[in-house]
Parts: sequence; structure tokens; C-alpha cells
Amino acid sequence: MSQQDSTIELLTGRNRLNKKSRVPARLDFLQSVTGLILALFILFHILFESSILFGKDAMYTLTKLFEGEPFIEGGEPLIISVLAFVIFAVFILHALIAMRKFPSSYREYQRYRAHSKLLKHSDTNLWFIQISTGFMMFFLGSIHLYTMMTQPQNIGPFASSDRVYSDVAWPMYLMLLVSVVLHAGVGVYRLIIKWGVLDGNDPRANRKISRKVMKAAVLFYLLVGIASLFAYMKIGYEHQNEYGGRYMEKSK
Ligand code: HEM
Repeated sequence: MSQQDSTIELLTGRNRLNKKSRVPARLDFLQSVTGLILALFILFHILFESSILFGKDAMYTLTKLFEGEPFIEGGEPLIISVLAFVIFAVFILHALIAMRKFPSSYREYQRYRAHSKLLKHSDTNLWFIQISTGFMMFFLGSIHLYTMMTQPQNIGPFASSDRVYSDVAWPMYLMLLVSVVLHAGVGVYRLIIKWGVLDGNDPRANRKISRKVMKAAVLFYLLVGIASLFAYMKIGYEHQNEYGGRYMEKSK
């Protein structure tokens, strides 16, 4: 298939012989799969990273665990770089596939606004949340992932807190937190609806439950994320005069 053919298939959903193409359905599926992988990653990421709420030792232990300390003496930060690279690849793929759903012109956007106002259609509004948070994450997530990929040795109770407080990364993290939690929450909800996974015998009632659970999960993750960010800020504030110093476990 030539590049021109595949572009036509992508845009029209029909191939050269005017038959319904399978490409859009495959792309849709790939978007769902990559989205699910990223949502699961974030679900665990925010919880692991909130280990700072249990103290510096807890976060230090977890950091070293991810660096493979049980198997490699002192841990190997390169493991984090590789993990960040893999996540970055999935992240970019997901964003590339999603780009085809952006309103492609201002007129199309205006039509969307009129449509959503007229119908007060909540799913259309969810779509708008997805597009705008996705756009923000494209930049903020890239900055964060690039930092994690290139400076994996700078993760830990003091190194992370210095970054958050003294390097003033907290506004970026706050915006990233809100956009990623909303994006993941709305995304997983839309996946549940789209593939009908929890429809059961009463889809209407079950969708209502899914919506409630998703709202509660978004609120929970936002609160945990903000609390963790405060903890990093507090440690960073107290540590500012020893900026750059590394944390040593109390027991060592
Ligand atoms: C393997 C890849 C990743 C690693 C190793 C990683 C690691 C970390 C670490 C150590 C922190 C604490 C602050 C710091 O040290 O700067 C953090 C915070 C954060 N990360 Fe990641 N991250 C990764 C991927 C992602 C992705 C893909 C996203 C979302 C697009 C994300 C969103 C966030 C957010 C929102 C915070 C702040 C959380 C809060 O407010 O408590 N991270 N990350």
C-alpha cells in the first residue's frame, strides 16, 4: 500500500476500492491499548511516589528497589532510564494516534462548541476534557519523562524535593498532576463505555456506577498527588541550604 493510499484510508475510513477500511478500527484499538497501559502505569506511579508521605526512608527504599538494589549492589539508575524510555515510546505512540481526533480547524472547533452547548451532551464535554488535558500533557509529560530518562540518579527524598522546591518544578508537577489524573480518569471511563466491559444486564445503571467510581478515583488521586507534592515541598524547603546533598538511610 502506498503512503498516499494509507493517508486516504486514515482520513476517509475507506480504501482505494471504496471498501470500508480496517485501519481506523485498528488505530482505535491501539489507542485503547496504549491508553490502558499508560493509565495503569499512572495508577501505580502516583501511589509509589506518595511513599514520601510515609517518610524519607520509605521513598528511599522504594527508589532503590526500582534501581534493582536486591540484585545489584547500590542499585543501577540506568534501569529507570530504560523504563522511562519505554514509557516515553508508548506515550508518544498514544499521542500520535490521538492527534487524528483533534478538531482540525477553528471552524470545526466552533461547530463542536455550538453542538455541546445545544445538547449539553456530557460525553462531548468529556471528549473536550480529553483533548485539552492531552494537549497539556504532551508538553509537561515530555519535560518530566526527559528529566527522568537523562537524570535517573537524581531521584530520592532529597534529590526529588530539591527539584520540586529549589528548581521550582512544583508548578509543572501541579499542572501535570491535574491533567494526567483527569485524562486517565475520563479515558478509562470512556474505555469502559466504548467496549461495554461492565455493561452487564443493565448498562444504564452500570454506567452510572462506573461514572461515580471514576469521579471518586479522580478525587482520591488528586488528593494523594497534592499531599505528596506538599511533602516534597516541605522537605525541599528544609533542605535548601544543603541543595544537591543526597539522602542516607537512618539505619546506615
Ligand atoms: C518511568 C517513567 C517515570 C518515572 C521514573 C517517574 C518518576 C517520578 C518521580 C521520582 C517523581 C517525584 C518528583 C521528582 O523526583 O521529580 C514524579 C512525579 C510525578 N510524575 Fe512521574 N515518572 C515517570 C513517568 C511519568 C508519566 C508518564 C507521567 C504522566 C504523564 C508522570 C507524572 C508525574 C506527576 C503528575 C508527578 C507529580 C505527582 C505529585 O503531585 O505528587 N510521571 N515522577
